[in-house]
Amino acid sequence: MTDELDLVSFDEDSYHQDPERLLARLRTSRPIAPARTPDYGRIWIITRYADVRTALADPRLAKDVHRWPGGGKSRPSETVNLHAHMLNSDPPDHARLRRLVQKAFTPRRVEQLRPRAEEIAACLLDELAEARGDVVDLLDQYARPLPIAVFCDLLGIPVADRERISVAVVDYGKREESERAIRELAAYFTKLVAAKRAEPGNDLLSALVLARDNAEESGTEDELTSTELLSTAFQLATAGFDTTVNLIASGTLALLTHPAEMARLREKPALLPAAVEELLRFTNPVNHATDRFTTEDVPIGDVVIPAGEWVLSVITSANRDPAQFPEPGRLDLRRDASGHVAFGYGIHYCLGASLARMEAEVAFGALLARFPRMSLAGSPEELRWRQVSLMNGLESLPVRLG
Ligand code: HEM
Repeated sequence: MTDELDLVSFDEDSYHQDPERLLARLRTSRPIAPARTPDYGRIWIITRYADVRTALADPRLAKDVHRWPGGGKSRPSETVNLHAHMLNSDPPDHARLRRLVQKAFTPRRVEQLRPRAEEIAACLLDELAEARGDVVDLLDQYARPLPIAVFCDLLGIPVADRERISVAVVDYGKREESERAIRELAAYFTKLVAAKRAEPGNDLLSALVLARDNAEESGTEDELTSTELLSTAFQLATAGFDTTVNLIASGTLALLTHPAEMARLREKPALLPAAVEELLRFTNPVNHATDRFTTEDVPIGDVVIPAGEWVLSVITSANRDPAQFPEPGRLDLRRDASGHVAFGYGIHYCLGASLARMEAEVAFGALLARFPRMSLAGSPEELRWRQVSLMNGLESLPVRLG
């Protein structure tokens, strides 16, 4: 049996404060190795770019726990079943579950949401402008409300419920709050589904309810069950809220700490799409891909991961691998960052990528144009990172708007 790595705690502030301190060492000395973590128990950690891509594309690394080698349950799960969604599925179920939601996220549909995102951004910036001169928390007052408003509009979550739901989604990521949050979200989405059934709107959840009910009436197996419907709503909320919030907040921090790059972007807004790719690579809103398990012995790089082991592919590390991105610790908005794995890789590649990109372009573009003299209030070392394993997210982002 291969030696386990010393404890790797991805959910500690000290990790998020400087992930490279741990990850650079792992990439060099133990790029694929088993470890023991508080969140995941025994799990193999993969840190090099090439190995992360290989692992994420390998169908022998599975998500659906029914495929656990030898049968039986692999892990205790939460008390409420909200797991029957695409990110926990393997082919062929995965394609069926993804297809139903995909229509809402085509580049054309996403472009139709751009004016609404611009309107929300402008409104939030107007409110911020009133606080000019004071220190404001840009995370709380801009990076969070913008994607949450766009996403809730899309999914059909009423305005009055948004604060509560976004708090529950953040709590879900915390180890000790997770069970309570999942019960709250299950209860909320059960009620919301009933409301959409009674009175459908022009939103994604209503469309999914319709697909579910049509399937029941016509007896087709191609659509989705009620557990899958609830799970899909839950998964979209957990995937769609927090991630984009992190990109906007950490991306703004990266720009504020690289003033020459920020000036370049302000002078040339046409750089925005490329800048968003580099900010994704540099900030890694999602720290690691969700866990997968080996259905059989799987060789990756020089190592064979035995059947029945859990695997974690560390996105933050892959995107800072010097073998793929020269001088990876340098933010360079003109570099070709395409090929980064901030949105994952393979069949589970982020479904909301085009939405997140559009929101980030709107967010950075509007912010830089409105507050050209914005600066960080305090030093970057004083900032705190949320203690969650899955995400790299700031607790707050205090700035002076100038
Ligand atoms: C900056 C923002 C975002 C980042 C960095 C991000 C990152 C990711 C990553 C890394 C994965 C793959 C996880 C894995 O393989 O284990 C993923 C999957 C997914 N994301 Fe995102 N995401 C973002 C925004 C969004 C948004 C806005 C939505 C929806 C509204 C969304 C919906 C999804 C879905 C549905 C999946 C699962 C796809 C599948 O299993 O086929 N994401 N995302």
